[in-house]
Amino acid sequence: MEVTVSTRDSQSEPHGGGRGETAARPPEALLQIENLTKVFHIRQGFASQEFHAVDDASIVIDSDQPEIFAVVGESGSGKTTLAKMILGMEHSSQGILRYKNRVVNDISRKEMKSWFYREVQPVFQDPFAAFSPLKRIDSYLYETAQNYKMVADKKEAPRYVNEVLSAVGLTLAEIAGRYPNELSGGQAQRVAIARALITKPSLIVADEPVSMLDASLRMSIVNMFRKLKEDNNVSVIYITHDLATAYYAGDRIAVMLRGWIVEMGPTEQVLGNPLHPYTQNLKTSIPSIRSSEAWEDKIDLAVIEADEYTRTGCKFAGRCPAVMDICHDNVPQSVLHEGRRVKCFLYDESVEAAQKKALTPAAL
Ligand SMILES: Nc1ncnc2c1ncn2[C@@H]1O[C@H](COP(=O)(O)OP(=O)(O)OP(=O)(O)O)[C@@H](O)[C@H]1O
Ligand code: SF4
Ligand SMILES: [Mg+2]
Repeated sequence: MEVTVSTRDSQSEPHGGGRGETAARPPEALLQIENLTKVFHIRQGFASQEFHAVDDASIVIDSDQPEIFAVVGESGSGKTTLAKMILGMEHSSQGILRYKNRVVNDISRKEMKSWFYREVQPVFQDPFAAFSPLKRIDSYLYETAQNYKMVADKKEAPRYVNEVLSAVGLTLAEIAGRYPNELSGGQAQRVAIARALITKPSLIVADEPVSMLDASLRMSIVNMFRKLKEDNNVSVIYITHDLATAYYAGDRIAVMLRGWIVEMGPTEQVLGNPLHPYTQNLKTSIPSIRSSEAWEDKIDLAVIEADEYTRTGCKFAGRCPAVMDICHDNVPQSVLHEGRRVKCFLYDESVEAAQKKALTPAAL
């Protein structure tokens, strides 16, 4: 399906790079995603067409250097699908996902339960969904600690749960005896994160964890992720629509568009000086990147989503102000450029400048 113009990137740097997006592969990665793809189908009348909800994603998170890795992109860009594959909730169609050098698809059900689901924990958008409305929060946390054998017996559970709660700025006294509906949204999300911490995970995958919270509470949750990284050595994959918190919290960032990672690198560089036309578009769509305002989609995405997912060539060609003829029929490769990876012909040196010029006087 893809027409490849350059294979320079995929041949020489297949692993998505670690920090600073260098070509070197780390000795042991916490998470290694190589060319990960998830195929779904779009129904069109009686027919159905396949599309790649995540397409050829490659990311490495080092084990010796915890980080907050932000993933941003408009609705329907594949963020949750990527998260579900990392969490072992969805099998990939192609590519490899390794956690601590183990291929996740090959891990037995038994070991997924006894090992993987302790190591890699989810945090979801709706904190209340993590709890039964009929169960007291403290009892739920005690049981979780016991089920995962984090405590020797029932008596030890309160001490352990209190310790975990302190990592998210709460105490057992604050939540003892309460039911989920008696917590504020911010408190509930903190408790949901504490629940995720019970198993002492090395990786948290947080899918839109602040989008249901007031702007004033978002920063406190994001600050907590930073603290967990520093104090508990936990890496966090932070998925968000909110560019401001991604900019503030993310050590690195991946920008997704219709299943593609179109730009990835240190957040300061990618959002400070975006190279991909889509990232540039995102940045201008919020009044100020440092403001706490959420980035809102400006375009009617439902209309263009299916079209962009299944189009030949660059998926951004229909909206790109720098589009060239080459973009309509050919898939750009992800290339290293100015310390980040960018999937755009404008930065692919293997495509002749003369060729670009001849094809795109308007873009140059
Ligand atoms: N199980 C599924 N079957 C078919 N299509 C799916 C399935 N899950 C997701 N999709 C489609 O895959 C695409 C990516 O969806 P995904 O939920 O990963 O996007 P997202 O970036 O998380 O969006 P949002 O920001 O709205 O949460 C969408 O077009 C979605 O409709
Ligand atoms: S490859 Fe072409 S259409 Fe795609 S973002 Fe780059 S210039 Fe725009
Ligand atoms: Mg989602």
